[in-house]
Amino acid sequence: MAHLFNRNILLGVSGGIAAYKSAELVRQLQELGAQVRVIMTRGAQQFITPLTLQALSGNPVHTELLDSEAEQGMGHIELARWADLLLIAPATADLIARLATGRADDLLTTVALATAAPILVAPAMNQQMWHDKASVDNIQTLIERDISLIGPAEGEQACGDIGPGRMEQPEVIAARAASFFDSGLLQGRRVVISAGPTREALDPVRYISNHSSGKMGYALARAAVDAGATTTLISGPVSLETPAHVKRINVQSATEMLEQCLDQCSGSDIFIACAAVADYRPADIQTQKIKKGPEHISLDLVRNPDIVATIAGGDPRPFTVGFAAETNDVVPYAREKMQRKGLDMIVSNDVSNEGIGFNSDDNEVTVIWPSGEQVLPRATKASIARQIIALIGARICANNSENQEK
Ligand code: C5P
Repeated sequence: MAHLFNRNILLGVSGGIAAYKSAELVRQLQELGAQVRVIMTRGAQQFITPLTLQALSGNPVHTELLDSEAEQGMGHIELARWADLLLIAPATADLIARLATGRADDLLTTVALATAAPILVAPAMNQQMWHDKASVDNIQTLIERDISLIGPAEGEQACGDIGPGRMEQPEVIAARAASFFDSGLLQGRRVVISAGPTREALDPVRYISNHSSGKMGYALARAAVDAGATTTLISGPVSLETPAHVKRINVQSATEMLEQCLDQCSGSDIFIACAAVADYRPADIQTQKIKKGPEHISLDLVRNPDIVATIAGGDPRPFTVGFAAETNDVVPYAREKMQRKGLDMIVSNDVSNEGIGFNSDDNEVTVIWPSGEQVLPRATKASIARQIIALIGARICANNSENQEK
């Protein structure tokens, strides 16, 4: 059953009689596990008070674009970035027209332009308005821009007319929102993901490590679960919650990570190496704390095994994806790394670019495979993860059909 655990749903409410159903919709979304924030247009506030939706959502309701106090809390750009999905229900004829023309004349339409999250719209209007050529054209424009519709339902309307235009029931809208994340693309597949840093012990109290937060690997695990995969995370030490429905195996060192990856990858379909594995480890781990003494000491380090190359070199082996953090000539270096390590795909990012990568919530990457590449522009790691999983699914399908043709 589709769910919305750990999902941030931004609910836009515009001014139609169906706005009263938004209260129930907030509850339904929460029951499926979502965090909900609400934006109301001025019209919506004529039908239901912000206080009602604030009490139900547990978050302040956002109403104004040009409100310096609100902008200090969570401004329109932050709201746009916070959302995993912008759900507009009810969407009136006026709101749909403003979306279709790209207006940014209130908070909701501005956020709709500013968000990289997918947008789902549940229209609600009189049946004659729904059939009007202007509305038909506007809806067509939204569809062409990949904005998806829920409903409208048919039946008796508040004005007494009968026909299409009623907003879908809240439980139908909430279920569609949940199924939106549940692509089924990797249904029945087993996915193993390495994430986070490794820690290479020097003595009982010290270690060598790096600043990897694990966020990208954890976002990939969530996206893999949403795509229907049975997902295992092999995680170095991070302070992140285990995503719902993910089996997490904690490791410390690269050697332990390799052991677990080999074990878990046997019989799996996909391996994504997202961990920032330490390249070297101390040749000996001192059993006692190293004492402060001479002015200079040196450490004897030995190379760690390359986990992703080891998995890629196996036979049989899963579809193997690596990451490449580069500071210059990002794509050519990453392509060379993919070939050298025998990978099916590599995700490269420019770590000299501030605001993305290691500890950030955002990323911007180029996904490379032997016959092509695709740039994924700056977005949240959750959004980038979903796109990477979609590309992996597409490559596996393409490889399967190429193999069948041979
Ligand atoms: O060689 P480099 O560290 O740049 O390669 C990065 C990719 O290789 C990442 O996918 C990382 O998870 C993986 N890797 C690994 N084992 C290592 C070093 C890197 O799996 N020892």
